[in-house]
Amino acid sequence: MRKWFILLLTTVAALGLGWGFFGENGFLRGQSNTGAARAQTSPIFTTAHSSVGEAVRHFFGIRSEAQQPIAYTHKAHLDRSITCDTCHTGVNTGPQARIPDIRDCMECHEFVAMDKPVIQQITAMWERGEDIPWQRVYGFTDEAHVRFNHAPHIRADVECSMCHGDVAQMTVAERVVDHTMGFCVNCHTQRGASNDCLTCHN
Ligand code: HEC
Ligand code: HEC
Ligand code: HEC
Ligand code: HEC
Ligand code: HEC
Repeated sequence: MRKWFILLLTTVAALGLGWGFFGENGFLRGQSNTGAARAQTSPIFTTAHSSVGEAVRHFFGIRSEAQQPIAYTHKAHLDRSITCDTCHTGVNTGPQARIPDIRDCMECHEFVAMDKPVIQQITAMWERGEDIPWQRVYGFTDEAHVRFNHAPHIRADVECSMCHGDVAQMTVAERVVDHTMGFCVNCHTQRGASNDCLTCHN
């Protein structure tokens, strides 16, 4: 798989440089978050998809929207000066921000808002030894072989909102920023961070 991808990188590098980077829909052209920009996620087609339907969905950046099992609300927590890393405990230290599990919720909710129906629902799950099956909102397809790391971005003072929007005003997280290659590469160019293919791909 790795060998295959490096081969792909070298073959598309020329294409990428010639057409992708400077062409009409090039990676280095500004990309906004409009529907039109989303429809041109990546101009590169690969054969690494398991079905034609999947390839088409990936090509046009179509994803199903996450349906969360609990009416969780970011806003209710962030209004109370709880910070992002109270729950997303890995974000300052490593690749993954981490999604909290039910034990993290119960550290507070064993004592807080116990009269609320949602909290009683969570408490019952916790007592049965169940976790909350959150659905992922962000993330890449395996075929894209993207390597991302939160910690260096936080150290470089890149705000969460640059990549995730104003989550403090959301209930459950919504995918409001499209993590296309152009999105990453544009900021790396502006900030003088590496745009070597192997910085972001493995
Ligand atoms: C650091 C403490 C803390 C943690 C951890 C925490 N919460 Fe909360 N949560 C609060 C506080 C404080 C409130 C506001 C309570 C109020 O409005 O009376 C709240 C409110 C809520 C509400 C709104 C309740 C309502 O109907 O108004 C929900 C739902 C909720 N939390 C779910 C969760 C879930 C799920 C987790 C784990 C992923 C979690 N909380 C983790 C402190 C916490
Ligand atoms: C430079 C862009 C960028 C910044 C800044 C950023 N994120 Fe992310 N975040 C991402 C990407 C890309 C993913 C998907 C990573 C993957 O699936 O491999 C992600 C995933 C996540 C996830 C899902 C769990 C995980 O770790 O994969 C959470 C939660 C999250 N981010 C929270 C945060 C918080 C909180 C901050 C600020 C403290 C933040 N992010 C800052 C780009 C960013
Ligand atoms: C009280 C705990 C808590 C706090 C504080 C919190 N989050 Fe979350 N976050 C969650 C939970 C639970 C989920 C999973 C449900 C969902 O997707 O909304 C989540 C999901 C996310 C996701 C989507 C991850 C993915 O790819 O599925 C992002 C992005 C995110 N949070 C960013 C933030 C940012 C930015 C902040 C601070 C402004 C923050 N969160 C503060 C509990 C929290
Ligand atoms: C808003 C600006 C911004 C965006 C958007 C951004 N980055 Fe970065 N990224 C940076 C900066 C600044 C650094 C350099 C940090 C340093 O020098 O330590 C960096 C560094 C990195 C590194 C190197 C980390 C290391 O180990 O040294 C990786 C990998 C990376 N980014 C991947 C990505 C990916 C993948 C995306 C898109 C999903 C992305 N970045 C989006 C600003 C950004
Ligand atoms: C700053 C980070 C970054 C750099 C540098 C980067 N890429 Fe990417 N690349 C991405 C991200 C993120 C995606 C996934 C986009 C998506 O899911 O829509 C991607 C997607 C791709 C894909 C499509 C894979 C697929 O099947 O979806 C190819 C091919 C690719 N990149 C090749 C390259 C080549 C060749 C280089 C060097 C010239 C390069 N990338 C440099 C971040 C980067």
